[in-house]
Amino acid sequence: MFTLLCGALLVSSCNEQARGFALPEGEVLEGKVIYMKFSCNECHSISDIEWKGGSDSLNIPLGGEVTNKKTYGGLVTSVINPSHEIAQQYKQEGSTEEGLSKMENYNEVMTIQELIDLVAFLQSEYKIKAPPENYYYPYPR
Ligand code: HEC
Repeated sequence: MFTLLCGALLVSSCNEQARGFALPEGEVLEGKVIYMKFSCNECHSISDIEWKGGSDSLNIPLGGEVTNKKTYGGLVTSVINPSHEIAQQYKQEGSTEEGLSKMENYNEVMTIQELIDLVAFLQSEYKIKAPPENYYYPYPR
C-alpha cells in the first residue's frame, strides 16, 4: 500500500521534470542573452526575438501555447541531443537524409551554466493551453 501511494505521488509530482534529473535554477534573462550569443534565431523565432534567417532558411517557432508543456528535460535534450527525437512536422525540412537534425551541435562550445540559463529562458516561453473538450490525440502518422 505504501509503495503504491508513493508511486502515485511520484508520478503526479514528476510530470514537469524528468525524473532524477535536476539542474540548478537558471536565469531567464541571462538565457535570452545566450540565445542571441549562439544565434539560435538563425533557425528559430521566439516571442520578441525575430528570426534572422540562416543559410537553410529554416524557421522553426519556439515557445507559445502548447497543450503539453515542454518539459525541462525535453528542452535540455533538444539542445544537447537534437536528433534524439525529431518532431513529425520537422522531419522533412529539419533533418538530413540520414534522419539527423540540422540543428547545430553546441556541446563543445556551450558551458553548462549557459545551458541552464538557456533552458530556463526557453521554458518560460511556453504556456500551457488546455486541449479543447473531447479532443482526441490522433495517432502520429
Ligand atoms: C541550423 C539551424 C538551427 C539552429 C542554429 C538552432 N536550431 Fe534548434 N532546431 C533546428 C531544427 C531543424 C529543429 C527541429 C528538428 C529537431 O528537433 O532537431 C530544432 C529544434 C529545436 C528545439 C525543439 C523544438 C520543438 O518544438 O520540439 C529546441 C528547443 C531548439 N531547437 C532550440 C535551439 C536553441 C536554444 C538554439 C541555439 C542554441 C538552436 N535551437 C539553434 C535547427 C536549428
